[in-house]
Amino acid sequence: MKYDRIPRELFIKNRKKFTARMKPSSLAVFNSNDIYPIGADSTMPFQQQRDLFYLSGADQEETILLLFPDAVEEKHQEILFVRETNEHIAVWEGEKLTKEMATEVSGIATVYWLSDFKKVFYGLMTEAETIYFNTNEHYRQAVETQTREDRFIIQCKKDFPAHLWARSSPILQELRGVKEPEELQLLQAACDITEKGFRRILDKVRPGIWEYEVEAEYLHEFIRRRSRGFAYAPIIASGNNANVLHYVLNNNQCRDGELLLMDVGAEYANYSSDMTRTIPVNGRFTKRQRQVYEAVLRVKDAATKMLVPGTLWEEYHKEVGKIMTSELLGLGLLTKADVQREDKDKPAYKKYFMHGTSHHLGLDTHDYGALKTPMKPNMVFTVEPGIYIPDEQLGIRLEDDVVIRDKGEPFNLMRNIPIDPEEIEALMNSGKS
Ligand code: GLY
Ligand code: MN
Ligand code: MN
Repeated sequence: MKYDRIPRELFIKNRKKFTARMKPSSLAVFNSNDIYPIGADSTMPFQQQRDLFYLSGADQEETILLLFPDAVEEKHQEILFVRETNEHIAVWEGEKLTKEMATEVSGIATVYWLSDFKKVFYGLMTEAETIYFNTNEHYRQAVETQTREDRFIIQCKKDFPAHLWARSSPILQELRGVKEPEELQLLQAACDITEKGFRRILDKVRPGIWEYEVEAEYLHEFIRRRSRGFAYAPIIASGNNANVLHYVLNNNQCRDGELLLMDVGAEYANYSSDMTRTIPVNGRFTKRQRQVYEAVLRVKDAATKMLVPGTLWEEYHKEVGKIMTSELLGLGLLTKADVQREDKDKPAYKKYFMHGTSHHLGLDTHDYGALKTPMKPNMVFTVEPGIYIPDEQLGIRLEDDVVIRDKGEPFNLMRNIPIDPEEIEALMNSGKS
């Protein structure tokens, strides 16, 4: 791994929180992700299944975590199964977790080779009444691939039809939504790397640069700072491309007078940052660009203030909608009549701001986290309003990542990433030859 070792106390705490919510006489199993194929012998780079990582810190394929707090033998209350390593694997693939290393990383005393899983698991199932399956129940999930977890669940239901089933996901959604101090540090580290990338490109963006050249500058900066790279597919969208919300081609040339919208975040130790900045390609906003920019910034600042303990997700989005509506009236994009005759289920502001304002952020960019209960301290959210005006070839989004605190306004993990338009202009014009 490129990242510094995470203290195992984090994973020990996470397991304690999870097992405290399990039913009596139950066990839970968590499978790693597969290594996904491309074709021939090519594969995608491995990415660990985030729940397994959250509970163990094991960042390796072919890994299974088993939690069984009521196991008869104490050594079987927590077991990590890892792929057996040997000299041949060491030569071809490099270092893999030994049993000792797996214990060091995770704090789990009992580590077995994966080849022993079936035997051990079948033995423990005879002691258990309920098994927790780790289904993906994220509100935006749309996965077509059968995961290792899916295959395990199918097999398990065949082999143990008389056991009771339970779901890990509701527990994990609740737990992962509220971050531990160690996690906040990791998120800060990811945001700090993103900051370095942004400062690097401020020096480089000028008319004629290609979107992919900007992308390359970020990646260079991220990797040299021990990030694996982008936390999600980066959007580097000049001019009208900014109005394609999921524009990821990044293959256009940036032209004089255009804006450049960059939705880019570094990952660090599997944690995501998620930033959007919109800058003028030539280093100076036009009057109109600045007007729209300041409107988006005001919405972002007002929305951020609402992220306090007790806020309800639905109410928050309604309030942000009202503020956005008033800004769009000010910009002359909506009329009072538009607002008066709007359909409450599809308010008028959605024409220019069609996505949500926030999402949980953590191990996944659109992270797990409770959305139906009041917000709590140490939840981490993005705040990302935008105004998109295809008629003016203009799209502006600004996005920061913030932590809800016990009292007062949230803490901005991106406080050091320039967002003030004056500051951006000054920085863009300071280092140029
Ligand atoms: N970059 C993805 C998002 O902002 O939600
Ligand atoms: Mn984003
Ligand atoms: Mn986001």
